[in-house]
Amino acid sequence: MAEAEKMESSGLSLKSRWIVFPLTFGVIISGYFLYRIIRSKIGKNGRVNKVIKKDVAQVVDSFDIEDLGDKTAFCRCWRSDKFPYCDGAHVKHNLETGDNVGPLILTKLL
Ligand code: FES
Repeated sequence: MAEAEKMESSGLSLKSRWIVFPLTFGVIISGYFLYRIIRSKIGKNGRVNKVIKKDVAQVVDSFDIEDLGDKTAFCRCWRSDKFPYCDGAHVKHNLETGDNVGPLILTKLL
């Protein structure tokens, strides 16, 4: 009678609880660790800057306008081997990822 009352009040028998609760706990712990693994992989792969000046805390480039040519293309995809200048690497990046990035082109008015 007492066992039946417990079952009716919670919907689970005592024996079922010994199976369901550890199973639920295991699923939650597994999900947490899976989340951490996926998050760490996405975090590393999701970085914009993969190789340029990785030894500095912040990549900053500065130019005097007078030193630029008549037309200068600056990289905005972070894939250029001539960074901060564009070398066309954005075309490959866009094809591989479906992205649509391109350079910033500054033209000197004469
Ligand atoms: Fe990066 Fe062209 S290479 S924008």
